[in-house]
Amino acid sequence: MILLFLLPFYDRGPERRPERRPIAMFTLVFVFFAMAYLTYLGTSAGSPEVQTIKPPAAVVASGKGVLAEFYAGRNAVAQSGCEACHTIGDDGNPGPGPNLTHIGSRIPLLGIERTLVNPTAPMPSFKNLPPQQFTAIAEFLSDLK
Ligand code: HEC
Repeated sequence: MILLFLLPFYDRGPERRPERRPIAMFTLVFVFFAMAYLTYLGTSAGSPEVQTIKPPAAVVASGKGVLAEFYAGRNAVAQSGCEACHTIGDDGNPGPGPNLTHIGSRIPLLGIERTLVNPTAPMPSFKNLPPQQFTAIAEFLSDLK
């Protein structure tokens, strides 16, 4: 870093015109675009605490009560950090856990509950969640067909 700041003083080369200094100019432009690109990625990534998946048609058709449970479970999942390791719909990280967008069609409710209580590492156990939240999460996931 310090060497970089001192560069103009110890670089005795006579050349100062930008178009004659291709490496320096390339580095400058590259760093500028890298910063712009990473800034864009950062602002468009969305918060890991957000879950926006839409309720499947079967859930909507089952009436207001079921729909409310779906949203309660969706909030609980968003707040429990599942998206650090799982993708659900458009949200969450792609790994190390499997995509859960259609988990309900692969694993029955009991199987999902068993996974939450006694998962394979590195997934942590969620058996200490408040029972209401635990049930909401399990039912939400089994609704994702
Ligand atoms: C630290 C990362 C991590 C976190 C946090 C995490 N999981 Fe997992 N999860 C995994 C991994 C890895 C697997 C795959 C384990 C295996 O291969 O047996 C998994 C598997 C699962 C499975 C079984 C999927 C299948 O296809 O067999 C379910 C369901 C699940 N997780 C739900 C959740 C829920 C709900 C949460 C939040 C309450 C959560 N996970 C939080 C890493 C995580």
